[in-house]
Amino acid sequence: MAKHIVVTGATGNIGTSLVHELLRRGHRVTAVARPSARLDALAQAGATAAAGDLHDAGFLTGVLRGADAAFLMIPPNMQTPDFLAYQAEVGEAIVQAVRAAGLRQAVHLSSIGADQPAGTGPVVGLYHQEARLNGVDGLQVAHLRPAYFMENLLANVGMIQHMGIMGSAMRPDLKFPMVATKDIAAKAAELLDRDLEAGSVHYVLGPQNYSQQDAARAIGPAIGRPDLQYVQFPYDQAKQGMVQAGLSESMATLYDEMTRNMNEEKVMVNEPRTPAATTPTTLDEFVQTVFAPVFRQATAQAAQPA
Ligand SMILES: NC(=O)c1ccc[n+]([C@@H]2O[C@H](COP(=O)([O-])OP(=O)(O)OC[C@H]3O[C@@H](n4cnc5c(N)ncnc54)[C@H](OP(=O)(O)O)[C@@H]3O)[C@@H](O)[C@H]2O)c1
Repeated sequence: MAKHIVVTGATGNIGTSLVHELLRRGHRVTAVARPSARLDALAQAGATAAAGDLHDAGFLTGVLRGADAAFLMIPPNMQTPDFLAYQAEVGEAIVQAVRAAGLRQAVHLSSIGADQPAGTGPVVGLYHQEARLNGVDGLQVAHLRPAYFMENLLANVGMIQHMGIMGSAMRPDLKFPMVATKDIAAKAAELLDRDLEAGSVHYVLGPQNYSQQDAARAIGPAIGRPDLQYVQFPYDQAKQGMVQAGLSESMATLYDEMTRNMNEEKVMVNEPRTPAATTPTTLDEFVQTVFAPVFRQATAQAAQPA
């Protein structure tokens, strides 16, 4: 049955794939993000564009009113001076809008690690958002808990260009689940197509666990650098690098906490893998279809005269 589905974060990694997949399935889709050419492109593809800010509960209430279901996310914000306060503000605005609009069905983009109240860095805000949404009377909300996005590896593009290496504070050998965002969108579309079970949790863990070393071995040959190495940085140096790259101190501190606890295998590493949580896109496929084209384009742009 065709539904009217609202997609927040519609112009992002997951949102864009999700909007296209829901349209393909015959649903009426309202795409929510701030104004941009990417939002205009979704309107051209057949969605209704709703341009606005998720801090604005009144705006979102108007968008959600009358919808059959929604995909709800707290978008990343790397520059905000207090990331957990930002997550609480946007999370509360979303919940206020869901209540005021009387929304009945939602898929919430949460994360692996959101079962833990502390120690997971930026994921702590999603632990709280799951609880907020579970507290809305009459809402059937399914929480998606995806693993580390393969798209996070794109943060290495500049480092490979400038330093010839990949690197972060993560242990090179640590294997943990990684998932392509198109697989998360596919899972969200599947859930939005059926009646949701209140408070249900759905892990999305990619095809297998991979390490940063595995990522370097997959990426190197695909970009013509077969000897590409992954280098583990000391925690302080990695944090400094994140701040230099434009992340707020708050965000860098939260990533630092998450990385330390992942390295010690306390969080987000050893999630039990079930067939339902296992998704198809391999690291090699991601590298061929996403990483290598992005790298080639960045290299071509860098070679152009200023
Ligand atoms: N990275 C990981 O490994 C990981 C793992 C598990 C879960 N997650 C979750 O996944 C989320 C990221 O998903 P993604 O990669 O699909 O996101 P993304 O590509 O960064 O897209 C964010 C979307 O939100 C919109 N947006 C940002 N700020 C907004 C605002 N204030 N008001 C309205 N719209 C706004 C953006 O468009 P505009 O900026 O144009 O408005 C864009 O459409 C994270 O926030 C986290 O909760 C991430």
